[in-house]
Amino acid sequence: MEIIRQPRALQDGLGKLRMQGRTIGFVPTMGALHEGHLTLLKAAREENDLLVASIFVNPLQFGPEEDFQRYPRDMEGDTEKLRASGVDMLFLPDALSIYPEGFSTSVAVKGLSEKLCGAFRPGHFAGVSTVVTKLLNLAGPTRAYFGQKDYAQCLIIKRLVRDLNMDVEIVMCPTLREADGLAMSSRNRYLSPEERKAAGAIFKCLKGGEEKIKSGASDAGAIKTLMWEVLRSEPLIREVQYASAYDPETLDELTEPKKGGAALLLAVAVRIGDVRLIDNIIVSVS
Ligand code: PAJ
Repeated sequence: MEIIRQPRALQDGLGKLRMQGRTIGFVPTMGALHEGHLTLLKAAREENDLLVASIFVNPLQFGPEEDFQRYPRDMEGDTEKLRASGVDMLFLPDALSIYPEGFSTSVAVKGLSEKLCGAFRPGHFAGVSTVVTKLLNLAGPTRAYFGQKDYAQCLIIKRLVRDLNMDVEIVMCPTLREADGLAMSSRNRYLSPEERKAAGAIFKCLKGGEEKIKSGASDAGAIKTLMWEVLRSEPLIREVQYASAYDPETLDELTEPKKGGAALLLAVAVRIGDVRLIDNIIVSVS
């Protein structure tokens, strides 16, 4: 596995390989890798000639009160996992090479960026869109892989790629979960054992919503009420930021019943202690 730190070196190296007709699969991450990240790498490994990953904890997508400084970093463990996943090139830039003095451009997908997490983390999705645009320009991949765990993020990236005519296929991979259903996340390691147990309520709430839909409920209000009840019954959940049914294309909260055959996004963000956790599932209405 080749480690590349300079943006220009990545761009030149991959540009040459692409000219030779090689397909490139790209998995951008912020490191502290877990099994969820590894499923993205596995899919990308299978579908492309070359596998490129990046680790960059992007300061632009963290708010001033957020966990940028204490975001988990595990370079040794990560490089081992990436090597074992068959990564050919690891892009490991420092902040100054991504955002040199005078950097003043922002990529923002209007509308979608203010929905769900965007309503609680101002500037977050613009930070994500900006860095992902840069990373895609540098790697020039055939396909780039993102997790459904961050559904809105993936939708926003699909939109920006379409809007800016970027020649890359965005692949959304399913969310990998722990045995009790908790979505794997780099932030799970912040949880105390009691908080970790309490976090099981997030998936329970999503499954509760799904069962209600499957049993014929089409009233969006009733689904939301049930989801909130499940979360509210867990005392260690300090705050529910959102928990409801949304349109999977617009991310608007649903107020009216959906017709049969339609897909719904059930999405949740809560705070347990200091840790903010999100999750979602897609449910089709029968
Ligand atoms: P990070 O949180 O490191 O996640 C990297 C990728 O792994 C994202 O596409 C995310 O959706 C995916 N992922 C995380 N947990 C997952 C799980 N349990 N199952 C499947 N996939 C999972 O998301 C980011 O980094 C950043 O915002 C980034 C896109 C790199 C831009 O800075």
